[in-house]
Amino acid sequence: MQLYVDSANLTEIRHAASLGFISGVTTNPSLLAKEDPSLDIKTLILDIHKSVGGHTSVEVVSTDTDGMLREADEILSWFPEATIKIPFIPAGLAAVRALERQDVPTNVTLLFTPNQALIAANAGATYVSLFLGRLDDISTDGLQAVRDTVEIWDMHELESFIIAASIRTPIHVLECAKAGAHIATVPYKVLMQSMKHPLTDAGLAAFLADNEKMNAAKASLA
Ligand code: E4P
Repeated sequence: MQLYVDSANLTEIRHAASLGFISGVTTNPSLLAKEDPSLDIKTLILDIHKSVGGHTSVEVVSTDTDGMLREADEILSWFPEATIKIPFIPAGLAAVRALERQDVPTNVTLLFTPNQALIAANAGATYVSLFLGRLDDISTDGLQAVRDTVEIWDMHELESFIIAASIRTPIHVLECAKAGAHIATVPYKVLMQSMKHPLTDAGLAAFLADNEKMNAAKASLA
């Protein structure tokens, strides 16, 4: 399972990318709205894309097909390898089909059920983003939606990539990997939490202390 960082914050994205295990970044209007309002969106998106050097999903905000396609054209004029993130609404599905005919990759977002994901895949989505945390928030099992979607994908050999989105915890990451999601897009904080283990820290501290002891012993013999 590939890991993307789910953020529009350049500091977070640059640090996550510098660690070498991130294959992409997903943004959305709410993430962009958290950033400094004086930043120019095009410049920010280009900086984000350059920092990650891989998949970059940029979301449209129009709610009609023509508007979404106009926005897609603009984003593609910034960088042609952009993935256009499109909400799962009827107008969005028509835009996905139109972009698929032009070989433009799309990421259909705001999916909450396997049926929605199946419809998006049939419309030609390159990526389908299932929001599991928001399902958990309303007492529905988000991970089960991911498991069911993967089962359907395996049975029918569907080609769209399943992105587990709206991730809240390291356990979500673990369970999405076990379920067979192709990608998880993970908030920076959860990526950092997923790296941490007290035994790793304690083990390194012990190795470094023993190395120093050994060097001191060698020095005393010299
Ligand atoms: C990613 O594509 C989604 O926009 C994002 O994961 C949503 O996460 P949230 O539910 O934490 O806002």
